[in-house]
Amino acid sequence: LKIGILTSGGDCAGMNAVIRAFTLRAIHEFGWRVVGFLDGFAGLIDKQFITLDEKQVFKIASQGGTILGTSNNVDPFEYYLPNSTSPIDVSDRVLAYIKELHIDALVTIGGDGTQHMAYRLFKLGVPVIGIPKTIDNDLGGTDQTFGFDTAVSIATEAIDRIQTTAESHHRIMLVEVMGRYAGWIALYSGLASGADIILIPEIPFSLERIKDQIDARVRDGHKYTLIVVSEGAREEGKDYSIMKMVKNSHDPIRLGGAAAQLGQRLEEETGIEARATVLGHLLRGGVPVSSDRILSTRYGAGAVDLVADKKFGHMVALRQGKIASATLEEATMALRLVTPDHELVARAKQVGIIFG
Ligand code: F6P
Repeated sequence: LKIGILTSGGDCAGMNAVIRAFTLRAIHEFGWRVVGFLDGFAGLIDKQFITLDEKQVFKIASQGGTILGTSNNVDPFEYYLPNSTSPIDVSDRVLAYIKELHIDALVTIGGDGTQHMAYRLFKLGVPVIGIPKTIDNDLGGTDQTFGFDTAVSIATEAIDRIQTTAESHHRIMLVEVMGRYAGWIALYSGLASGADIILIPEIPFSLERIKDQIDARVRDGHKYTLIVVSEGAREEGKDYSIMKMVKNSHDPIRLGGAAAQLGQRLEEETGIEARATVLGHLLRGGVPVSSDRILSTRYGAGAVDLVADKKFGHMVALRQGKIASATLEEATMALRLVTPDHELVARAKQVGIIFG
């Protein structure tokens, strides 16, 4: 068989480990040929690919980013030609190219946006297998995406470091983390670093409640307050804080600024100095932690089974600790969000953290 593989959407730690595991097993155990399309779906549209062999994937499991490149503003169903302002559907071009190259299966490593596009291609007859990637951990059909553990670990270390300045200067320190509309990164890193307040999109906050908590901390003799703010956090009845719109993107909204806005208001209203730090793309970069390397390897090698079994239209998934599969339909039906009754939310509350 000849398999095409691509990485699409925002990069994250562990992408190379997936590419490596898939390629090695596909070549060694099955004797398949593997090609990697460059820059996500752009490579499928512009006919750009490289052959993946043992040499290409040598020692890449520990490397951040993706050796194939990625894009999060190329959609074959809404494709913008250079200098054009209206999109066109080039999916027939992709279908013809897959046929021309004799691709027997297309493996799409990506999050919600990627798997949506993959599912649409599958419905047009492309033999697609998905692999769940994103630091946000918000993809349906799986208990975890790879990249998440590394993002949480970087955020936790950063928040620990911010805490020392909070303590020394007696300030309110706010740390904004990525996650789009899901609060998983804020919840995990806030819990791990012992934050005082965690604000997530799923639980809109009240300024009054936050101020009350800060007042209570001051009364109890605490000299600082540490707040972890998910980029999608918002006040009750208010909208998300939007940083910019990205033309051509499957989801054009880029969130950002929630922590700075809240910090300014808290400083004005409490009289305590406040500072906001945005961790941003730091959470996606650098080497994957060991658990992400392992999960990526399980996903990459596990996806080979799905190709061998011709389970097209499926995505490799983690279910109760075991590698399983989910349909792309299930994976893309709804974002997997933090539920207000999630065990970690309850545990955080039990140790005095408030959610605003
Ligand atoms: O989906 C991954 C993610 O990092 C989100 O957490 C974030 O909102 C978005 O991508 C940022 O995208 P970009 O790299 O286009 O700024």
